[in-house]
Amino acid sequence: MDLALLLFVVLLRQEVAALKLLRINVPSYTLRGKNALLECRYDLESDKLYSFSWYKDHEEFYRYVPRSEPTQHSYHVEGIKVDHRNSDYRRVHLQDVGLNTSGRYKCEVVAEAPNFNSVIAEANMEVVVLPEESPAITGEEKIYASGDVLALNCTSGRSHPGAHLKWFINGEQVKADSELRHEQHGLISTTSTLRLELEPDHLSSEKINVRCEAIVQSSQKTNDSYIDSRTTEIFGTIKEKQG
Ligand SMILES: *[C@@H]1O[C@H](CO)[C@@H](O)[C@H](O)[C@H]1NC(C)=O
Ligand SMILES: *[C@@H]1O[C@H](CO)[C@@H](O)[C@H](O)[C@H]1NC(C)=O
Repeated sequence: MDLALLLFVVLLRQEVAALKLLRINVPSYTLRGKNALLECRYDLESDKLYSFSWYKDHEEFYRYVPRSEPTQHSYHVEGIKVDHRNSDYRRVHLQDVGLNTSGRYKCEVVAEAPNFNSVIAEANMEVVVLPEESPAITGEEKIYASGDVLALNCTSGRSHPGAHLKWFINGEQVKADSELRHEQHGLISTTSTLRLELEPDHLSSEKINVRCEAIVQSSQKTNDSYIDSRTTEIFGTIKEKQG
């Protein structure tokens, strides 16, 4: 083989033989108290693994080094509890996630000498708390007549992130007048206020139906971001027209 060909073969070999990151699997959201499995798929090709690490918001919390004993090591990072029995050179299992487990996760794979090739991948995970109760409507009257003012509040159960509230009268969405958020220990309850003067077309049947819908949606705008929707509805009787 002449030198040029040899060089070409060496270069080609380096090109195809390097460590490659295939993909990162981090759930876009996890419910509080559950476990989360974070995984990075990579192909070492002809490289040998030196270390496999995970970072949360740039802080390293897990490292797997095949040549060290023990092979796994965890570092203290707020909100992270690693289950070593279910973690290895490709994935890490987080236990009992809390609100402060939310963050940006990065995996890093480093190959051994002489190349020390390395690859990284990142993804966000948000921890979500769903409300325990359906939204509550207050301020309702039993009987309504044209000209009456509907003055209602709808308050969602505490959640993270906070719920968005929607109002419907006889199935048609109406705009709220104001929305107030109340936060406690990271959980948010939303109160929406509706003030509406009733018009004849609200009262065309025997009953008026008011529905409040509370929607909790994870912040990441991915296809699987929709999470939880609860509704509460009330029915008011329409006062008969006099004469
Ligand atoms: C993180 O969450 C844990 C458990 O919910 C709590 O004990 C801790 O104080 C929180 N830390 C911060 C910085 O919010
Ligand atoms: C509705 O909410 C507002 C603001 O929180 C409060 O001042 C008012 O008393 C509430 N009204 C009813 C009927 O619950």
